[in-house]
Amino acid sequence: MILQRKILNNNIYRNFSTFNYNNAVNHSVIPIIDIKQFKYGSDQTRQSIANEIYNVGKNIGFMYIKNSEIDVKLKTKTLEYNQWLFNLPIQKKQLFAQTDQNIRGYYRFQGVGYGEQLVIDDETGHAKSIDENNNNHEIEDVIEAFLVGNDHQKPWVLKKDYYEQRYGKNQSSRFKWLPNCQPNQWPATEPSENGFENDDTLTENDLKVAKAFRNHMNHYFDVCSQTASTIVSAIALSLALPLNHFDHFHSKNDHTMELKHYKPSTNTNKNNKVRMNEHADLSTLTLLIQNKGTDGLQLWNQSEWIDAPFLDDAILVNTGDVMERLSNGQYKSTKHRVVMNNQKSHLSRYSTVFFYVPNWEKEITNSDLMGDLIPFS
Ligand SMILES: [Fe+2]
Repeated sequence: MILQRKILNNNIYRNFSTFNYNNAVNHSVIPIIDIKQFKYGSDQTRQSIANEIYNVGKNIGFMYIKNSEIDVKLKTKTLEYNQWLFNLPIQKKQLFAQTDQNIRGYYRFQGVGYGEQLVIDDETGHAKSIDENNNNHEIEDVIEAFLVGNDHQKPWVLKKDYYEQRYGKNQSSRFKWLPNCQPNQWPATEPSENGFENDDTLTENDLKVAKAFRNHMNHYFDVCSQTASTIVSAIALSLALPLNHFDHFHSKNDHTMELKHYKPSTNTNKNNKVRMNEHADLSTLTLLIQNKGTDGLQLWNQSEWIDAPFLDDAILVNTGDVMERLSNGQYKSTKHRVVMNNQKSHLSRYSTVFFYVPNWEKEITNSDLMGDLIPFS
């Protein structure tokens, strides 16, 4: 059985209707886990951390991880690079934008309004929103994003053959195959790259910064992958499985990373306006860092929205659909969203999200499940 979910934009979200919001509870009950204790502690300490993580997965699905390799310095630097990328003029960003053939690179992402439902046409990629009265609306273009995958190998060559074999060569929708198997598209690091010879404004310094950006993001990608792998080992232990039980699902480094910029809004009357529709992640695990000062990320817990604020010395981690499936429902895939706070709507929100996912061609069969199949909630 293959995981199949409604595909939204780039294949990493499971989308929900956006009706019937409540205001969020302004406090956090998200546990903080010290992953260093798991990595270097005694067997007893490791088991105890694994048990803590199990309770997280069972009850809330989100946790702060502290003392990982993603320290304050790395977080700060990564978000500075986020800002640098999105501050480039739009003409430059368009040079490494997504195309019909390649969804990696820069794109603009359309959010939804309060009480509205986002509808994306799979064929055209066009987005619109529909309110409670079934009226269509022009929607604000509030999010810019940059999607990047493993830059070290060339997995798309093998994957292309695989997907062609599986789905055929003549798929009309770009979402039906090869969603994430094309080369990364970066800002130019050499004058000759990707038609950038037409960009007269490109300076030596631009190339230098772009190279540093690319190196940094690749480094951050690797660190996230290692950190996620450690957390997944702890999850395995929490389920009384060998530490490396889930390794073969993730051996090909097919993970995806998304940089995001939620643009400031000039409309000051949009408290709780949804900037990112509520959804659950398709991933095994998602690692998120966000900048200080804007907040807005909320998750659904016990029939209410709760805030997931910025913490200086921790990253936010949630278990996704794949882990819910692999653990046969013992770990939750919790829905979440991003809303606007009136007092902070004039500020940009930056986040970098790393999706730790199984090998793209990996089929999750019943034999991989623990016990009888429990449907998604
Ligand atoms: Fe998400």
